[in-house]
Amino acid sequence: MTMTHLMQDFQAMPFATTVALGGLSLLFYFLIRGFLSNRRGGLSKLPPPPVVPGLPLIGNLLQLKEKKPYKTFTRWAEIYGPIYSIRTGASTMIVLNSADVAKEAMVTRFSSISTRKLSNALKILTFDKCMVATSDYNEFHKMVKRHILANVLGANAQKRHRCHRDTMRENISNRLHAYVKSCPLQAVNFRKIFESELFGLALKQALGKDVRSIYVEELSTALSREEIFKVLVTDVMEGAIEVDWRDFFPYLRWIPNKSVEMKINRMSFRRQAVMKALIKEQKKRIASGEEISCYIDYLLSEAKTLTEEQIYMLLWEVIVETSDTTLVTTEWAMYELAKDPTRQERLHQEIRNVCGFDKVTEENLSQLPYLSAVFHETLRKHSPAPIVPLRYAHEDTQLGGYYIPAGSEIAVNIYGCNTDKKQWEKPEEWMPERFLDEKYDPMDLYKTMAFGGGKRACAGSLQAMLISCTAIGRLVQEFEWRLRDGEEENVDTFGLTTHKLQPMHAILKPRE
Ligand code: HEM
Repeated sequence: MTMTHLMQDFQAMPFATTVALGGLSLLFYFLIRGFLSNRRGGLSKLPPPPVVPGLPLIGNLLQLKEKKPYKTFTRWAEIYGPIYSIRTGASTMIVLNSADVAKEAMVTRFSSISTRKLSNALKILTFDKCMVATSDYNEFHKMVKRHILANVLGANAQKRHRCHRDTMRENISNRLHAYVKSCPLQAVNFRKIFESELFGLALKQALGKDVRSIYVEELSTALSREEIFKVLVTDVMEGAIEVDWRDFFPYLRWIPNKSVEMKINRMSFRRQAVMKALIKEQKKRIASGEEISCYIDYLLSEAKTLTEEQIYMLLWEVIVETSDTTLVTTEWAMYELAKDPTRQERLHQEIRNVCGFDKVTEENLSQLPYLSAVFHETLRKHSPAPIVPLRYAHEDTQLGGYYIPAGSEIAVNIYGCNTDKKQWEKPEEWMPERFLDEKYDPMDLYKTMAFGGGKRACAGSLQAMLISCTAIGRLVQEFEWRLRDGEEENVDTFGLTTHKLQPMHAILKPRE
């Protein structure tokens, strides 16, 4: 309908109708205005959250020098309470340290806090939010989340990938038995074996096949499987915590910071070059008529609107996410069990009673409450993703009864929530029994805050549970675990996730 038609229709209306409609619109306008200003006025009457004192200009930056801010945040929570604000250079950051305020931010106030705030390093490494986990909550996010759930992480997709998990479990068991046979009484580096097998699973889910090596045209060299792992996983996870001082002073962004930029750009270039080479191989396979049920085959045939770069990033996302946090969880669980023979024996007995001499399978998991408790207690105490990737309040809002102005960064300190003394008895102790309490639903994956919450809760929690629980079950069913002398004290962590700094070394004795 054209503007002229509209004007004609309007002029043709009886005068009284026009006046009545005009009056109604005015009334509506004033009502809405009153409602909005009341809402904003109401919000700004709320007090601001407690402030952690810092220095002029740099705020609290010096107090966060070590790369484990979640521990400093948790210490501050004991003084300032579950919610407080800090200054990181030019930005205000609201830190949330209890499940109540964290859930309020992730669920009740989600519509005001749904955008991500990424560091310069993460912007480059994620191709400016081109991943499910780092994207803002928008149409792109909804589309790619549908893809990842449909083909990789949803319950039906996980059923289709079951054979890869079965192979992985057998391989790990065989490699450990072979090691113990050839070097009895010598401590085994569990991470080396588990990490390698998990990476194989990640490649099969994403690309359909594991790889031994690949020629990378853009690097003019062939890379071994270990080198591919380093380029795709280890290096990028290290780069993700790289600090660029311009993150804290956006008004100085025009000053170049060549050293950080070059390092991150180089990592990103190498990662893309390897992904390109891996994808080229699989495109050849598809062209030859060999189809496999995996993410690349699905994306290339179903996701026609995605660009080539977006497809690289989505495939890489599955590889890196599969390879990291599940390893962190399983290694910490085995460390705790190897340190604690009584609890290890309790788990062994449970498995013995339920499975007899048959190997633990995914079908057994719902009958093994103590195994599930071991998994959740490890997630609680060692929170693999200790801080949720930063969010950002894009409009004025409130949290915990405090006023949160638009522009504040929001940090959900998962580690702080999972070790909050008000919620957890003796939080520093690893006590799986706490999850046997009848108030917990044994199959609930969100007993702790480890997987986040609300619409952006972890999409891979089912996969993590299936892999980690059955691995722990099989490992305890087949071997008696004991830490190598001096291992107990090795509790330090490094990286974006809570990787054990020193890989766990344990002495294994095959069970009869
Ligand atoms: C024990 C293992 C894991 C832990 C502790 C963990 C933890 C988390 C956390 C805290 C978030 C952020 C939630 C938020 O922003 O509110 C997240 C998001 C996500 N995780 Fe995991 N994760 C694990 C394993 C996995 C695995 C194995 C995958 C996939 C292979 C995966 C894929 C994702 C994805 C795609 C998202 C983004 C969801 C969205 O934004 O909608 N995670 N995870």
